[in-house]
Amino acid sequence: METLTEPAVIDQMTPTPFRVRRVREELSHTFTLELEPPNGAYDFLPGQFTMVYAFGIGEVPISISSSAAENGTILQTIRRTGAVTHALGRLKSGDYVGIRGPYGTPWPMDKVKGRDLLIIGGGIGLAPLRPAIYHALENRGDYERLVVLYGTRTPDDILFEKELAEWGARTDCVAMTTVDAADRGWNGPVGVVTRLIGRVGFDPTNTTAMVCGPEIMMTVTAERLMEGFAMAPENIYVTMERNMKCGIGVCGHCQFGEKFICTDGAVFAYPEVGELFDVKGV
Ligand SMILES: Cc1cc2nc3c(=O)[nH]c(=O)nc-3n(C[C@H](O)[C@H](O)[C@H](O)COP(=O)(O)OP(=O)(O)OC[C@H]3O[C@@H](n4cnc5c(N)ncnc54)[C@H](O)[C@@H]3O)c2cc1C
Ligand code: FES
Repeated sequence: METLTEPAVIDQMTPTPFRVRRVREELSHTFTLELEPPNGAYDFLPGQFTMVYAFGIGEVPISISSSAAENGTILQTIRRTGAVTHALGRLKSGDYVGIRGPYGTPWPMDKVKGRDLLIIGGGIGLAPLRPAIYHALENRGDYERLVVLYGTRTPDDILFEKELAEWGARTDCVAMTTVDAADRGWNGPVGVVTRLIGRVGFDPTNTTAMVCGPEIMMTVTAERLMEGFAMAPENIYVTMERNMKCGIGVCGHCQFGEKFICTDGAVFAYPEVGELFDVKGV
């Protein structure tokens, strides 16, 4: 029997073909797809994701890593983990992927105007944060201090290394990178990213933190900000990653309790999800 909601759902479940303009290898395990929307324009907010379909293989949620102010193409930065991400990594310029979205909640860029921004990324987690960094730089007068802290395993795993250096060289932005394990060529900080927090100045009473990385990294970072710097939990934003199928709150695949990670998140204020972080297999 036909219902009123069926056409809308079918429409939202139908991927639109986007042409691959370029594939850029970022790291040995990570690449960026530059994708052309069919009509050239694509509106999204920093922190949102799309469902990316490798034709004949499968569909995965991937955050957008480009500036929301850019027109003409979007960037999606992807780490090879399994069948779909490996298939996406074999694409060449001129190939097509299917895109649905943008979906999910954004980083709260409007809400936090006038505050210090403390942006903390771990590993591939810098990719979903990059549109927030671009937005803050493009609208620099809207925010007070801008601090980007990044932690990854080794110097060979530093994502967007050139840009991190450029941001760090600016007078209106602080950017610092740390690695878990250094090699002989690395002169920077060594250790977990939370160790960098005490090395940068910010006003905890007027700061919003945006944190993205492995769940253990986000948990430890949020605890450090709350316990070490007395930051209010509602001023800390994190992302939840869970397996997804529909991305639009229909299939229940990403459901936990009353929340759907795909529509209530994936960006959440910490008090909404802190207790979910240890729960696997949602
Ligand atoms: C909202 C959202 C945004 C994301 N953004 C990005 C992004 O910008 N870049 C990126 O590289 N990845 C991102 N991911 C993760 C990405 O969706 C998974 O890596 C991908 O689904 C793996 O699919 P696969 O078929 O290649 O591997 P699979 O064979 O499905 O899985 C390979 C391994 O990864 C694990 N895995 C699969 N899906 C997830 C998941 N969602 N979270 C955690 N572990 C998972 C599996 O348990 C398995 O161990 C995002 C996930 C979500 C939910
Ligand atoms: S992925 Fe289907 S409800 Fe979230």
